Amino acid sequence: MMTNDRRKPIRWGMVGGGKGSQIGYIHRSAAHRDEVFALAAGAFDIDPERGRAFGLDLGLDEARSYRDYAAMFAAEAGRADGIEAVSIATPNNTHFAICKAALEHDLHVICEKPLCFTTAEAEELKALSEARSRIVGVTYGYAGHQMIEQARAMVRNGDLGEIRIVNLQFAHGFHSAAVEEQNPSTRWRVDPKFAGPSYVLGDVGTHPLYIAKVILPHLKIRRLLCTRQSFVKSRAPLEDNAVTLMEYDNGAIATIWSSAVNAGSMHGQKIRIVGSKASIEWWDERPNQLAYEIQGEPARILERGMDYLYPEARIDDRIGGGHPEGLFEAWANLYRRFGFAINRERGLAPAGVEELVFPDVDAGLEGVRWVENCVRSADAGGVWLDYR
Ligand code: NAI
Repeated sequence: MMTNDRRKPIRWGMVGGGKGSQIGYIHRSAAHRDEVFALAAGAFDIDPERGRAFGLDLGLDEARSYRDYAAMFAAEAGRADGIEAVSIATPNNTHFAICKAALEHDLHVICEKPLCFTTAEAEELKALSEARSRIVGVTYGYAGHQMIEQARAMVRNGDLGEIRIVNLQFAHGFHSAAVEEQNPSTRWRVDPKFAGPSYVLGDVGTHPLYIAKVILPHLKIRRLLCTRQSFVKSRAPLEDNAVTLMEYDNGAIATIWSSAVNAGSMHGQKIRIVGSKASIEWWDERPNQLAYEIQGEPARILERGMDYLYPEARIDDRIGGGHPEGLFEAWANLYRRFGFAINRERGLAPAGVEELVFPDVDAGLEGVRWVENCVRSADAGGVWLDYR
């Protein structure tokens, strides 16, 4: 496994991800897994007192558990040992302002998806990150699973032949009823003021969209048709189910089913790529396996950590095949890559990390662009539109 310099961890802060939040724990766990980052400061909560207390629980100095992110960025900028990077794990409506303020304080940023609400905002963040030479990473965490690298290498090496059909879905059943009446993490997701122009398209659909981009970097979306529904009526205008059809520039066709009302389904995130010779299929609930089906032959199941995989899929090996890895390892793989990118800017990255792919500001921008296009098509009555 390629490692960052553990003697000089990146001084790191967090905004959001406070006590009881859904996603805060995995950020901290992934950032600390390989000692790439060291938590030094935080503004964890919309409730300043609860946030300060949580920071102390995590072992922060009292002075560095802040009431809000503006205070944190200002105070940390004045310290010789101030934070160099920050992760943003707050509801969607705050990402743009916090990310912008972080970049303006010359911090590297790891931001939750969606990066922001509009492509204009995403382009502004991209320009700012380039002007300041700071990285923006976006936590499309499932992309850190090893078998995604194997799928990417298989496509690049022609194992599937010409790519024809891409079937994608992230369709869980957790919100089949109006659980937002009780659950605060769901409540903001179905309110456009906090969630933005979409619910499931942005919340779940952008995950397989990004994974497809990793596996099929050469394909570009030419046009798209989307239809979206609010099966729990009180969620309108936001959708809890959507189907998107897409045409790529090589003539391949793709579908993405995004749903929170797929009753009985756990995650239901599946990636199936069909080529002229063979197909592959990956399911995030069995992430250590990749189905490889060659036309006319018995189907094979490729296993993580085995010698027969491509070398690119072995870079992230933490333990041999047979030992199951999961989402925490996938996120740690991504955080290690964010670390490599940041350490390149710090002059501390090992050789050979340039080739490693991670969800960067362009990936964040593409997610926002895709949601915008889907909403445009759905709200025009579910019509084909040129992708822009
Ligand atoms: P949540 O509602 O469970 O937690 C949000 C946290 O942010 C809370 O601790 C809250 O107090 C804090 N917060 C809110 N406003 C704040 C502010 N202005 N300053 C500081 N803290 C603030 O939300 P959840 O589910 O953890 O989602 C957070 C973000 O993570 C969302 O953008 C969501 O889309 C994303 N997410 C990403 C996942 C992934 O797989 N990458 C999975 C789940 C969520």
